[in-house]
Amino acid sequence: MKSALFFSLLLSTGSLSAVAETPNIGADEVMLERGRYLLEIGSCNDCHTPGFPEAAGELPSEQWLTGSAVGFQGPWGTSYPANLRLKVQGMTEKEWLARVRQPMLPPMPWYSLRDMKDEDLIALYRYIRTLGPAGDPAPKPAAAEMAVSTPYIDFTPKNLPQQASR
Ligand code: HEC
Repeated sequence: MKSALFFSLLLSTGSLSAVAETPNIGADEVMLERGRYLLEIGSCNDCHTPGFPEAAGELPSEQWLTGSAVGFQGPWGTSYPANLRLKVQGMTEKEWLARVRQPMLPPMPWYSLRDMKDEDLIALYRYIRTLGPAGDPAPKPAAAEMAVSTPYIDFTPKNLPQQASR
């Protein structure tokens, strides 16, 4: 009886430590896969990766998220999709969480990041870090009415009903 109890204790201790090790390794990979998945379905590459929409999303991850020097110009001025691969290098997870919940200039859908769960945002951050630093920082945003010398896409609404009726 005694030895049977000892044996079953030994067995359960053995399987406990196996359980404790496996999820840790698995959790990291699951987290990175989740980060990549969120990035892809969150359309982050559409703006943050040059040429991504033109290539119908068929660009290797080495080229992802290096930011763009083609601005978006509208009533807010001119904004440039940030180089996220450089951005995450200088940020801790805590700083990333705080940063991505702040308002940003259009057309960045910052409210989507604001409403994400912490663990999803951290998965994104960790995945982006695995891509490593690449490219140059995007130009600084320009205030409304300020002329810019970079290429830009005009986001000014045209032909709105109240304008058309004038
Ligand atoms: C429609 C275009 C667009 C899409 C889609 C987009 N972004 Fe952005 N993003 C921008 C622009 C433009 C800026 C610069 C905003 C500013 O200057 O305030 C920006 C800024 C950011 C910043 C701020 C970086 C800094 O300077 O601190 C982060 C972080 C970011 N985007 C992450 C993401 C993530 C993650 C996704 C996908 C879920 C995403 N973006 C999707 C256009 C976009």
